[in-house]
Amino acid sequence: MRQDYPDAYRPLCERLGLDQGIPYTPNWSAGADFLEHLVEAVLAGRPAQIIECSSGLSTLILARACERAGSGMVWSLEHGAEYVAATRAALAAYGLQDWATVMHAPLRSTPLGEGTWQWYDLSRLPPMRAGLLAIDGPPGFLQPLSRYPALPMLASRLAPGCQILLDDAGREDERQAVARWRARYPGLEAQALEAERGCVRLLWPGEG
Ligand SMILES: C[S@@+](CC[C@H](N)C(=O)[O-])C[C@H]1O[C@@H](n2cnc3c(N)ncnc32)[C@H](O)[C@@H]1O
Repeated sequence: MRQDYPDAYRPLCERLGLDQGIPYTPNWSAGADFLEHLVEAVLAGRPAQIIECSSGLSTLILARACERAGSGMVWSLEHGAEYVAATRAALAAYGLQDWATVMHAPLRSTPLGEGTWQWYDLSRLPPMRAGLLAIDGPPGFLQPLSRYPALPMLASRLAPGCQILLDDAGREDERQAVARWRARYPGLEAQALEAERGCVRLLWPGEG
């Protein structure tokens, strides 16, 4: 846990009372503006179940937001065992273990109709209908369109009206993933939100 993080994160940390430091990693942690969008989604939408692709600072922020909201449970998919341990330790430092479950989800060969990706093993993720999905992994360097499988793979676990927040949406791969999702799921609404690295909010089709 670090206290020497960029100033951009300080308002969020003060607002959420994260005074013991945060699991911040340069170039890897979600941006402060994206994290602000996650907090708003939790506080305004009060989703009962939240799924996130990749753990870390985002998990701590989501768990704290759930605690503040008084409702919600975070289910975090993390492929790296060392990051599973680090995120669990950060949650424990703030007593937030009951608000988030970090699952070791190794990347597996995942065939979809249009190709095969390395993507999270979902065997530890219980059946659910999540009201919020945060997508910040797997890392983009692993393969083209690394985050594309999120919707095909999690479709059966999303509630109608689920809010989906995609980080790094300014990158070409993420733009293409959004275009493919919209072609595959008619009725999927997409809206760009203000964020330095780009953020797209999608609404899963159906009644909210
Ligand atoms: C973009 S990071 C997302 C981190 C998380 N959402 C957060 O806000 O901290 C995606 C994945 O990269 C991996 N990762 C995190 N830090 C890393 C590092 N310093 N070097 C290599 N991989 C890292 C982890 O497996 C993590 O799930």
